Amino acid sequence: MARLNVTEVHKRLGGNQILRGTSFTLEEGEIVALLGPSGSGKTTLLRAVAGLDHPDAGRIVLDDEVLYDGSAGIVVPAEKRSLGLVFQSYALWPHKTVFENVAYGLKLRKVPRNEIADRVAAVLGQIGLTGMADRHPHQLSGGQQQRVALSRAIVYNPRLILLDEPLSNLDAKLREEARVWLRGLIQQLRISAIMVTHDQSEALAIADRILLLDKGRIEQEATPVEIYERPKTLFAAEFMGANNRFSGQVAELKGERCRVSGDGWELWGRMRGDRKVGDRAEAIVRLEKTFLAEGPGENRISAKLEAALYLGERWDCVFQASSLRLRLWSPAAPADRPHWIHVPEGSLLVF
Ligand SMILES: Nc1ncnc2c1ncn2[C@@H]1O[C@H](COP(=O)(O)OP(=O)(O)O)[C@@H](O)[C@H]1O
Ligand SMILES: [Mg+2]
Repeated sequence: MARLNVTEVHKRLGGNQILRGTSFTLEEGEIVALLGPSGSGKTTLLRAVAGLDHPDAGRIVLDDEVLYDGSAGIVVPAEKRSLGLVFQSYALWPHKTVFENVAYGLKLRKVPRNEIADRVAAVLGQIGLTGMADRHPHQLSGGQQQRVALSRAIVYNPRLILLDEPLSNLDAKLREEARVWLRGLIQQLRISAIMVTHDQSEALAIADRILLLDKGRIEQEATPVEIYERPKTLFAAEFMGANNRFSGQVAELKGERCRVSGDGWELWGRMRGDRKVGDRAEAIVRLEKTFLAEGPGENRISAKLEAALYLGERWDCVFQASSLRLRLWSPAAPADRPHWIHVPEGSLLVF
């Protein structure tokens, strides 16, 4: 297990400022997800920690060891950082067996032969690949190849493991199973881990803490529950979950309570930003917090059903309400009649 400190890391690539003073801490044994839209700098940040690329400024410290310090001119090369790396493209050697793929790094490090055999067998056992040692990558499923890539990373007993979109080459069902398995494995190995992903449900499921990145800056750093239920910014609120968004104006403020109104609608919600009465505001509500109601009332909007798509366990419904388009999930197909949509005050986040 290891503790990592990343402080004020800056990186320019191809004339663009990619990382803009990014800082975070990884506690011992913690699994942190770097989450963010494509191009937000996740891979760049991970590569800086790995030592595959060097930042332009900042400081990266693993336990007591300075891996990078821009002002002191310290750069520890990647191979001296003893980190485990797993990439989206598993990058397995196609002509080597599973055993040879996992053993390769140990051979380079001149580990004695019998020790290599023991360590590789132990890791393959741990990772559920016993009996596959003599196969070649093309004789394995995607999920098994993924496990070989992980085996190769953990066979060194790294203090810290870095994973870049490790599950995104698996198909949907396998990916969901792999989440449970991957989180369990990291905990069982008692290592710290940083996982890059653009998939919010993957980050929510696997991580102890999420760092949400936008344009090379950390927008919010929080536990999965906190970041989903109490997003600090409009970006964080919109990035997480599936949402309805209302653009309007702040009509009334009572402490944290606020009334937002627009063309033909008004709703009470919770002020999360620093808007004043009269300011433009954006209100966000998760689809699972948007309900069909029996009739009119406070925080209800009269709406007309536009489309209902059957998704098996629910219906995905789209409504038109004056100037708004609203989506919600319903257990049954809504009838073709006038409807009211209820947005609970506590679930409407205003920024
Ligand atoms: N070698 C490079 N030269 C120039 N621009 C790069 C290079 N690598 C990445 N970028 C740019 O940096 C930004 C962040 O990339 P990346 O860290 O890979 O994002 P993410 O992993 O979050 O999708 C992107 O806009 C990408 O186009
Ligand atoms: Mg990436």
